[in-house]
Amino acid sequence: MTTPEDTVPTTDLDAYTLSLDPTHVFHSWSAQGALKPLVLAGGEGVRLWDNAGKTLLDFSSQLVNVNIGYQHPKVVEAIKHQADTLVMVDPKHANLARGEAAKRIVDLAPEGFDKVFFTNGGADANENAIRMARLFTGRDKVLSTYRSYHGNTGAAIVSTGDWRRPAGNEFARGHVHFFGPFLYRTEFWATTPEEESERALHHLRRTIEAEGPGTIAAILLETIPGTAGVLVPPPGYLQGVRALCDEFGIVLIADEVMAGFGRTGEWFAFDGFDLRPDLITFAKGVNSGYVPAGGVIVSDPIAHHFDERVFPGGLTYSGHPLAMAAIVATLDAMKDEKIVENARTIGAEHLAPALSALAEKHDVIGEVRGLGVFWVLELVADRSTRQPLPDATMAKLRADLIARGLLPFTINNRIHVVPPCVITPDEVAEGVAIIDDALSAL
Ligand SMILES: Cc1ncc(COP(=O)(O)O)c(C=O)c1O
Repeated sequence: MTTPEDTVPTTDLDAYTLSLDPTHVFHSWSAQGALKPLVLAGGEGVRLWDNAGKTLLDFSSQLVNVNIGYQHPKVVEAIKHQADTLVMVDPKHANLARGEAAKRIVDLAPEGFDKVFFTNGGADANENAIRMARLFTGRDKVLSTYRSYHGNTGAAIVSTGDWRRPAGNEFARGHVHFFGPFLYRTEFWATTPEEESERALHHLRRTIEAEGPGTIAAILLETIPGTAGVLVPPPGYLQGVRALCDEFGIVLIADEVMAGFGRTGEWFAFDGFDLRPDLITFAKGVNSGYVPAGGVIVSDPIAHHFDERVFPGGLTYSGHPLAMAAIVATLDAMKDEKIVENARTIGAEHLAPALSALAEKHDVIGEVRGLGVFWVLELVADRSTRQPLPDATMAKLRADLIARGLLPFTINNRIHVVPPCVITPDEVAEGVAIIDDALSAL
């Protein structure tokens, strides 16, 4: 029998890693045949490297989740400490790390949110939030936007509006989609943010009326749709959605999986929009992805609904102690080190002007949008028609950015500028200069 020590070579670990990967790793959302993954072997702060020592400045935060950067010593230590203490606790038992994590999360939420249901990630957070809303209202339908991503499980993937939604709703029932606001590619012939907001709200009202308000359990919204292109809502839109939910007795679920925990320069993205949802789903940034975790923050009326009724949901790893220890340490580090404040300042004083200057210089940038460390450069073949830059050009640009030392997050015709929240002004300048050079070379 061979052991791993016999087979792992002492030189060229990158080549060895790449030899294992296509043979044995089945990748997400891809045809498997032509994949050429990047090898990442180590990291610290906002930098990553392969085994040969090539470093990359991270403008992706992986999947927009490593908000406090890599290898934060306090979080790594907390995970090690919990591993030494107790590695698993059945969700029905009480455990200090779990209680501390839940308390820290509800302390950040608005008044009237006192309980957290823990999940393994964002999809099952949305799944369980939808279940809570259906049981609470006694209604079935869930409304969500076409430009959205809510996760890859039954109701979450059917709530998703983008190409990953399976044709025919075969994994779930009662899902209805509508268009949210997005002025740059308006569905409503709007010319101002105010017009876009008003018309998108009218469209949502008509969708609710046409579907039958009495059949709708929930509206599920990413506060700022992330994967769809950092679609910052125009003035009044989220308040208008809240008002419609109140008028028709619909539960408002804010999906804060990507936008939450510092990304927008606020603890929750909705803090910047004066919005109070009924259920909040989270994952990713809550512990910077150091150990998988997510959950639903449940407002008191919905939580009390289940005081005497069984909530029919649960997961073996709900509140896993290693993930909980990572949440406690991450949130404490974010407070102590003012990481949310840093994201806000970086957005307002560094990314906003630097990305606007890039757009002045490069015609290929059709629009710059965002806030905090949550930005997008929308790249177009022609500024007047707004025709997206073709996939082949985007692939070339992505490869060039990596060759120049930047790990980008690219989707369709966009570069999402989403570095860890701990990034410094110098690192922003370094990354933006790389994008500048790559766009010039294009
Ligand atoms: C807004 C949003 N919701 C839900 C999810 C799904 O989270 P997970 O992949 O942890 O299941 C994602 C993932 O990118 C997301 O961006």
